[in-house]
Amino acid sequence: MIESLKEQFYLTTEHTSYWFRVTEFGHLEHVYYGAKLQKQNMEALRYKHIAEFGSCISYGKTEKVSTRATKKIKNAEINSSEHYSLDTMCLEWSGIGRGDYRQSPLEIKMPDGSFVNDFVFKTSTIKSGSCDMHTLPTAYGTPEDCMYIDITMEDRSNQIELHLIYTVYEDTDVITRRAYIVNRNDEKLVIRRVLSMMVDIPNRDYRMTTFDGGWIKETHRHDRDITYGRIVNFSATGGSSNQHNPGFLLSEKTATESSGNVYGFNIIYSGNHYGAVELNHADIVRVSIGINDHCFEWELDKEELFEMPEAVMTFSNKGFNSMSHHFHDFINKHIVRGEWKDKERPIIINNWEAYFFDFNERKLLRLAEQGKKLGMELFVLDDGWFGARNSDSAGLGDYEVNRKKLPSGMKGFVQKIKALGLQCGLWFEPEMVNEDSDLYRAHPEYAINLPGKNPTYGRNQRVLDLCKPQVQDYIVENVSRILDDAGITYVKWDMNRHISEAYSDRLTNQGEFFHRYITGLYSIMKRIFGPRPHILLESCSSGGNRFDLGMLCYSHQIWASDDTDPIERLKIQKGLSYLYPLSTISAHVSASPHLQTLRETAFSTRFNVAAFGCLGYELDLRYLSKVEKQEVAEQIAFYKLHRRTFQFGEFSRVDYPKNNKMQWQVRKKDGNKVITGFFQTLTIAAEGYDYLRILGLNADKEYVIETKPQNVYVERFGGLIKHIMPVELNPDGLILRTANRIYSMQDGVETYQGDGALLASGVLLNNQFVGSGYNEKIRLLGDFGSNLYVVTER
Ligand code: GLA
Repeated sequence: MIESLKEQFYLTTEHTSYWFRVTEFGHLEHVYYGAKLQKQNMEALRYKHIAEFGSCISYGKTEKVSTRATKKIKNAEINSSEHYSLDTMCLEWSGIGRGDYRQSPLEIKMPDGSFVNDFVFKTSTIKSGSCDMHTLPTAYGTPEDCMYIDITMEDRSNQIELHLIYTVYEDTDVITRRAYIVNRNDEKLVIRRVLSMMVDIPNRDYRMTTFDGGWIKETHRHDRDITYGRIVNFSATGGSSNQHNPGFLLSEKTATESSGNVYGFNIIYSGNHYGAVELNHADIVRVSIGINDHCFEWELDKEELFEMPEAVMTFSNKGFNSMSHHFHDFINKHIVRGEWKDKERPIIINNWEAYFFDFNERKLLRLAEQGKKLGMELFVLDDGWFGARNSDSAGLGDYEVNRKKLPSGMKGFVQKIKALGLQCGLWFEPEMVNEDSDLYRAHPEYAINLPGKNPTYGRNQRVLDLCKPQVQDYIVENVSRILDDAGITYVKWDMNRHISEAYSDRLTNQGEFFHRYITGLYSIMKRIFGPRPHILLESCSSGGNRFDLGMLCYSHQIWASDDTDPIERLKIQKGLSYLYPLSTISAHVSASPHLQTLRETAFSTRFNVAAFGCLGYELDLRYLSKVEKQEVAEQIAFYKLHRRTFQFGEFSRVDYPKNNKMQWQVRKKDGNKVITGFFQTLTIAAEGYDYLRILGLNADKEYVIETKPQNVYVERFGGLIKHIMPVELNPDGLILRTANRIYSMQDGVETYQGDGALLASGVLLNNQFVGSGYNEKIRLLGDFGSNLYVVTER
């Protein structure tokens, strides 16, 4: 709901309110963002500026804006003794050179030659529905579930118009903000920084949470106290990056997963992003987010406009989980689109970690056949199916199917996969080229190239110049042709390096490069997948190097990380879960010891972590023992039974007081089922007790909680085996190794009953193994052990 009353604006979602107003000088003053309030006089909530701060610049001596409405506000509500200095105000938008010394979202070389800009209110219109953009993807909604206000601001002396658009998604407690700028001046404008939004909030001892890392260690949570100055969360790689995810949070220091005030911010953009939290001398926190101004410059001729990406904000006074729930619902309802919106994702078998480049049709079909037998649903043929792609030094850019590997061509291969009863998906890396490729030999000018500088390489490859229409056409034509000819129903769209030597000979202003690259990519994806809505698109960038809301406007899910070690994934998937729903997080079970860490983990833990996402398997199934195959089949059956809850249920991180444990849960939307995962990283000897808290159930209803049965392999016990088996076996002997392949023990199953209130207070679990003997009730976790528990209504 958006209401405007005498140039005061009240934006309301189901549980939040966002208020701002026009000042007597025409600036937009931010008044409140927080838990929902009834519409009322704003005065009590305004940041006061009665005393004059020495050395601050006084705006008050300049001419006041004289619109009818602002005059009324002034007469009715403004205390004439107020000192009007922009540096000590909470604003919705600020300029440069008029007394506010915090970072402005806009830095423009103005037609008058200065950098001074001062945008003031002109008019506003409220409409129902969402407001599309021409150049960038946006959130979307119907007139029933959202409305927006378009506020026109102007810099009067330079005839520049700025539109601030706020869209209120009431049911998901999200407000989006974006802006566009129009040059009405005869002179050209040179834009050097344009952020999508800013908002000033009085500081309440906040801290900032960011999700950072790198390849195979994406989105680890980091918290920093806010102190004077600016903390910046940015990327400059050309993508949203694995270094700093664009989403970040602001919270009270005392906030937990289930309590306290938490704000969330993100942006619908896949290029270089910039988010900042700045605390100034007046104890006001400025939050802003938008395109990174790193190497950015954009020129606007008369009547041209520039659109900023859409920023997304949410708030909860019930802690991090509730804030995440808003984002999750919003993404599932208003970002992900097409036929796969709200549709359960298939269980994937991917050949990459099974064979890398070393495969032929026979090997692939065998993997697919085994996968099918175990219950998998979609076979993904990963890298290596085209051109001379037998290693990562050749072939990117080419689309000819390698007939040595796939003698019946792609169409024939897909038919064979389909005949096995599986859907077929295909990997592409369309934004790249190897110099050893037919494409590069024919069109070296398609690659990004800065004359006079040697190119630099990442994974032996170069980036195609997506600013060029002929490059865009090349990709669209080739990818579309293969999809249509072969009947592919899933695509993995990869992008395996950062951009260097950013330069395009198509552009006269290289400051446009990074943004044009991303708008080029969006246009390619729209052209390929717009007419093919049946295709499930998974994007990927060396794992989670481009996990952002821009990609999610096209791709339904994203490969979270090349790191499939479940203990590493606990950190990665947990980080992602603050900002993105499980329906978008692709997670696979792979072999142990792990490709990236050499860590050995139980099959059960690998599944228990991957189940909190879109499940897949990525290992050579030939080497699984009989009992492992049974375990995989049983995992898949379990996942299918609870798939909707895992992918689209309400996911929560349960606060746990010990650093070596983690508890997650998914709750079915109707509330009568929860599946919770208990994960232990390193064992601590005789640690005491473990417990589970189940959140969000009906306090008065009765529930049963039961451990999901899982295998414990006898081999794990080595020399200890004599303590737990009735017969003595040589720990290195053939008998034990053989027994391990055909027999496994069952991990202890516990069952308890209680009402929702009891389960929320905490169920104490059986002891873990401490070496003092074994019985079937003892929990055998050890290092990296885990269990799933199913809670159902009685
Ligand atoms: C990237 C992806 C992997 C795999 C390889 C193939 O690293 O993240 O999942 O597709 O490329 O080369």
